[in-house]
Amino acid sequence: MLKMIKSSFSSRSQFFIFSISILLTISCLPQKHKLGLLGEKAMVVSAHPLASEVGKDILLLGGNAVDAAIAVHMALAVVYPQAGNLGGGGFMVIREKYGEVHSLDYREKAPLAASRDMYLDAQGNPQPEISQNGHLASGVPGSVDGMVKAHEKFGSLPWSALINPAIVLAEDGFNLTEVEANFLSSYSGNLKKYSTIDPVHYTGKVFKTGDKLVQKELANTLKLIRDHGREGFYAGEVADHLVAEMRRGGGLISHEDLEKYQSIWRKPLTGNYKDYRIITMGPPSGGGIILLQMLGILENHKISKNKFSDYLHLKTEMERRIYADRAEYMADADFYPVPVEQLVTDKYLKERFQNFNPDKATPSTEIKAGDLLQESEETTHFSIVDQEGNAVSSTTTLNGNMGSKVLVAGAGFILNNEMDDFSIKPGFPNMFGVLGGEANKVEPEKRMLSSMSPTILEKNGKLFMVVGTPGGSTIPTSVFQAIVNVIEFDMGMQESVNENRFHSQWKPDWISYEKGYSNEAIMKELRAKGHELKERNSIGKVDAILVREDGTLEAGADYRGMDSAAGF
Ligand code: DON
Repeated sequence: MLKMIKSSFSSRSQFFIFSISILLTISCLPQKHKLGLLGEKAMVVSAHPLASEVGKDILLLGGNAVDAAIAVHMALAVVYPQAGNLGGGGFMVIREKYGEVHSLDYREKAPLAASRDMYLDAQGNPQPEISQNGHLASGVPGSVDGMVKAHEKFGSLPWSALINPAIVLAEDGFNLTEVEANFLSSYSGNLKKYSTIDPVHYTGKVFKTGDKLVQKELANTLKLIRDHGREGFYAGEVADHLVAEMRRGGGLISHEDLEKYQSIWRKPLTGNYKDYRIITMGPPSGGGIILLQMLGILENHKISKNKFSDYLHLKTEMERRIYADRAEYMADADFYPVPVEQLVTDKYLKERFQNFNPDKATPSTEIKAGDLLQESEETTHFSIVDQEGNAVSSTTTLNGNMGSKVLVAGAGFILNNEMDDFSIKPGFPNMFGVLGGEANKVEPEKRMLSSMSPTILEKNGKLFMVVGTPGGSTIPTSVFQAIVNVIEFDMGMQESVNENRFHSQWKPDWISYEKGYSNEAIMKELRAKGHELKERNSIGKVDAILVREDGTLEAGADYRGMDSAAGF
């Protein structure tokens, strides 16, 4: 059987014939519908329709949720180059059908030659230009090792069957939508500027709707990964290309860095909210801690949709205290003793929130990190549930759109600019405006603090929701809102995803709201409590799945992007 599957996928035409011939499947592009796509058995929700289709096909072939996740990750590396990646990293949270939970940390690491002050000039001034762009901005990529480890532990289909769909998409190309064509055209200048050899397939022209994006070098890299697994990326031809790119551009990643990189299975961070169990990502992400802190405080308060400004006030006051904690205490726990347990205990959260005033905003200047006892924009998320009930929640990133904007010549993939997630100087904000200090300073081989929060919820011991989003520092608060909308405000999954989002993070001291939000009455009530409000572009792209009471799966695919659900 496995042989048959393998051979069926070794031919690209057969792969697509197989896809098209599945008449019983359903898929759709998201619009602002109230009800998301429903599936009886399985569901994939990702940032790109082609990637969601690949995931669905893998599930139809009998692959499990982790098989589908690997194939979706690889497909996104081709069709969603702004965030899908081989040159980045991420986190995967897994819940098996009988409730065992796992989390995989394939976050990038600082190169061995990295040092605390590497982004300061001679006068000690921070230089975000080099922590955000070009060769010095990249951490050692973790995605390929992560996918290999996920497959070793959970894969049921052959590795090659999971990589082949991405190879087909890279080699044969895919037609660009208007949004994609405009996006690539707008980034082509920067790719040319920061890469040492002009990646002409991106930069040689202005893209138009319907143009085909063919990525031959990327296809070749994917073939090496297919045929040699981890070694296909961290050694041999691809590693040589990567290190040569670094040398040409003054970057730090060496052969030794690549050889040493390991993704890590970590115990997921878990907590409870009412009847729900939350399974999320612990350090080096602070996202899961923030989510549990917010839900922990919420549990001691009553909220209602009718008093929405009171809810937003409460949420903002939580956020400003919790993001102060983030700046002080959250980091890679392999390097810094992050007080995770303390930060999420009810006792700590009650004390932390003691000076909450339901009628008045507390200025962020009056907020410092909590006292602890001595003893701590572009990413992409996808959610998958398979026909057995296994679930995967996975968030992966290059950090900013197109990462460092360095395309590795000869290997065809873009490198991350994840080093900017370190605190490059205490008190200097990163590209998402969040602050950090000693805990999150740059150190060789350390993982930079993340906000990514792939999360799975159980209700009374059964799978309830799979959820996550991109959005930098707004990630945990968007996941929080997606959960609260369903649990407290009785929304379905798509409805919850559609809702306007709000975000606050201690500093800067304001509430961000999405362009288009126009409820003047609510905004007036918030201003009366002393809050400043600022309009911004959309917040996050939540892709989620809800298990409804009758057992059907409802997708929530974010209309803010071209996110799409595919299920059956
Ligand atoms: O790990 C983090 O928190 C960031 N590198 C995520 C970046 C991100 O979400 C950008 N997307 N909009």
